Amino acid sequence: MKQGVIRNIFNWVDERFPVSEFWRQHVSHYYAPKNLNFWYMFGAFSLVVLVLQIVTGIWLAMVYTPTASGAFASVETIMRDVNFGWLLRYIHTTGASAFFLVVYLHMYRAIMYGSYRKPRELLWLFGMVVYVLLLMEAFTGYVLPWGQMSYWASQVITSLFDAVPVIGKDLTIWLRGDFNVSGVTLHRCFSLHVIAIPLVLLAMVGCHLIALHTVGSNNPDGVEIKDNKDEKGIPKDGVPFHPYYTVKDLFGILVFLTVFFIIVFFYPKFGGFFLEPENYLPANPLVTPEHIVPVWYMTPFYAILRAIPHKLGGSVVMAAAVAILFVLPWLDRSPVKSIRYKGAWSKFFLVMFVISFIALGYFGIVPVTPLRVWLTRLFTLFYFAFFILMPFYTKYEKTATPPTRLTE
Ligand code: HEM
Repeated sequence: MKQGVIRNIFNWVDERFPVSEFWRQHVSHYYAPKNLNFWYMFGAFSLVVLVLQIVTGIWLAMVYTPTASGAFASVETIMRDVNFGWLLRYIHTTGASAFFLVVYLHMYRAIMYGSYRKPRELLWLFGMVVYVLLLMEAFTGYVLPWGQMSYWASQVITSLFDAVPVIGKDLTIWLRGDFNVSGVTLHRCFSLHVIAIPLVLLAMVGCHLIALHTVGSNNPDGVEIKDNKDEKGIPKDGVPFHPYYTVKDLFGILVFLTVFFIIVFFYPKFGGFFLEPENYLPANPLVTPEHIVPVWYMTPFYAILRAIPHKLGGSVVMAAAVAILFVLPWLDRSPVKSIRYKGAWSKFFLVMFVISFIALGYFGIVPVTPLRVWLTRLFTLFYFAFFILMPFYTKYEKTATPPTRLTE
């Protein structure tokens, strides 16, 4: 009897809203390549973290006070007095680092298997817009606790705009809403962090997934499964997303969440990498911290900025380090997609790219010495060489012939 009622309600909705059609098209009859490996779980992890951030963010915003006089104390209230406030905040701060970790691995996977190549260029571009929005979201969020690092990091970042010719000074004041970083800046960071950026971010993640389901997933072989269909039009190398990948992703998500919550409960500060000790001091415009560094996920770019002794030049090269990723689909001229079948040069530059990114991240955290500055410059060159030389090494190197069907 009860089941009959539920079915009737479902049918009533389904006749007016395409629930079962959506399920069929995007889940039960959506065919994904059967060889997707663990690298393909990071998209699902990103979605999980996105939801965690939004939910914990809503509850944090219920107590948080976005004013220069109240912000720091309101975060302490969340940590000490609000029931489970500490848990909400630690999930949110650990979530920020986890977000970047999974998104970096997600992007690396795409680079490794050539998932940015035709017909997935737009999927990649939406991903890049998401990445830039994430950087903005992380920056504006970092200002909110109004600790020493919040204050001074925003002072450093906004002062970069000073270097823009002619309009620089006015632009900086316009961005800050004041002559220096102040409560006005804090309030606008709050507004951007809780509504403007998440709204656009969600829309862009939606576009990312629509683009994904329009062209279908790539895979570790870089072979298009749509090129080989049976008489019913079903890709021979595809399996239905449900139950194959729903179950696989669910397992991955459980492992991911286990590790995530071990960090939340036992190592939320993660040795100062997720929450910096300096930010436990209230913002003080009269005392500059000895080392001003951003959180680890921005340090590769910060290292580039610090290593170039010209403010405008440094800012431009730093921005270019992100911007160049947008044109990646048009730099790769290889006849094959996946690194598995690319030649030795592609493999060499990919390894150098990863080493450079990690090395830059390291040099962006540690204090500057003359030797480190030179090493940072060297790794900056390798970082850019990966992209700038790509049209040449991908075109002229010897590649292996990829299979026509999936190999695993
Ligand atoms: C909030 C952030 C993001 C979410 C929730 C997200 C979600 C997803 C999901 C669920 C998939 C399918 C599963 C998978 O392949 O892992 C996917 C695929 C993909 N994503 Fe993302 N993504 C995000 C950010 C990015 C970024 C920053 C980029 C690159 C700039 C990117 C590029 C791609 C590409 C190229 C694919 C297709 C991969 C393939 O088929 O081989 N994504 N994304």
